[in-house]
Amino acid sequence: MRVACEACGGLLDVRYDWDRIPVPASLRDFEARWQTRRNPLDFSGVWRFRELLPFAPPEAIVTIGEGQTVLQASDSVGRYVGMQPGRLLLQYEGLNPSGSFKDNGMTAAATHARMVGAKTAACASTGNTSASLAIFASTTGLFRVVVFVGSGKIAFGKLAQALDYGALTLQIQGDFDDTLARVREVCERLKIYLCNSVNPLRLEGQKTIMYRVLESLNWEPPDWIVVPGGNLGNSSAFGKAFYELEQLGLIDRIPRLAVINAEGSNTLYRVHEQQKIHWNEGRTDGSAIDEFYAQMDAEGRRAATLATAIEINRPVNLVKCLRALEVCDGVVREVSDQEILEGKAQVGAGGFGCEPASGASIAGAKRLREEGIIAADDRVVCILTGHELKDPNSTVTYHSGEAKGTAAGRFANRPIVVENDLEQIIAALHKFV
Ligand code: F0G
Repeated sequence: MRVACEACGGLLDVRYDWDRIPVPASLRDFEARWQTRRNPLDFSGVWRFRELLPFAPPEAIVTIGEGQTVLQASDSVGRYVGMQPGRLLLQYEGLNPSGSFKDNGMTAAATHARMVGAKTAACASTGNTSASLAIFASTTGLFRVVVFVGSGKIAFGKLAQALDYGALTLQIQGDFDDTLARVREVCERLKIYLCNSVNPLRLEGQKTIMYRVLESLNWEPPDWIVVPGGNLGNSSAFGKAFYELEQLGLIDRIPRLAVINAEGSNTLYRVHEQQKIHWNEGRTDGSAIDEFYAQMDAEGRRAATLATAIEINRPVNLVKCLRALEVCDGVVREVSDQEILEGKAQVGAGGFGCEPASGASIAGAKRLREEGIIAADDRVVCILTGHELKDPNSTVTYHSGEAKGTAAGRFANRPIVVENDLEQIIAALHKFV
């Protein structure tokens, strides 16, 4: 499958001719589908918005009930970030069938794979993309799946899913960037359908995360969307969603976007905030980006973060993300692993929990609040991209005070070791009750 322009190498982008497509007059019109949820397309949190991603005939759509996610206020996380009560909201994308936001995109990629008659699909992954692709294959039986993961670079919960869902799993000696480069070559050579976010149809599905946020807020755009940045598929999709909604006259204001890098994996931060390389109305300075990567290689800089999901050197959607940042008057920040783990611990203590990469949203919102860029009474939506149980190791090491390269967890909830003796157990409990 072709995902890039043969002339310039830039990734393809989906553009619709809206004049030829029926689009609802108001976002509120989508609410009619709440009445017809027995139709799997209306049940899906992605396809109930199908007029806004109109690339597939309804009979081709592959859905496994993705997108049943919720937006919830958390005042305790809000207090930590520095927000007034009711102003910080958490969008739990970990509630998807495979436990991450990827299912929003994979339902679209799987649909397109079916439309082109693909028998085998593949992806490279830090773990969640592979879990998502594998679950779509295992539950539908429509195609076989091959996943490429870097060696020792994947949280166990995610690897467990790929294995359990029956994906052929190749562990390559290398990091995510290496595996993505190889899988692109393999898919080209063996005519396998590629499901990474270089696939523009996948990003179409991820736009719906923003539609559901709007739906939860009674169609009123929030002031801020805060999202972790890895390969930059989500941020790119969010920008496209808002750009199109505004073009269609379905919203009158676009939220600001904050993309949060881990300090150890901060290409976007360096490019956008330090080198000031911007979208520039479509005239991004490509040679400046090439130079940036050449220097990164010359210095031997390689991404390293405890948030393995976002440990990426060359985010493939970099230019599309620059476009999103321009559309959404966006900013980029970098946060340390310590801040990421503390943000994650706050979501655990005052919400449903999340995996480390998602903690970057909280840490980033806190940083922007401290800088005064986010105001205490702004309405802020932090996207929690992955489920708490994806990476239990990171949670237990944090709470046990053993997380590598970080100081003892400020919010650690250590397990207490007690002898198998009633009196000693009661003595231990006396400190709490
Ligand atoms: N959060 C989680 C939990 C992720 O798994 C990823 C990406 C991101 C954030 C970053 O999102 O790429 O859209 O900027 N995981 C990919 C994977 C790379 O292979 O599962 P992005």
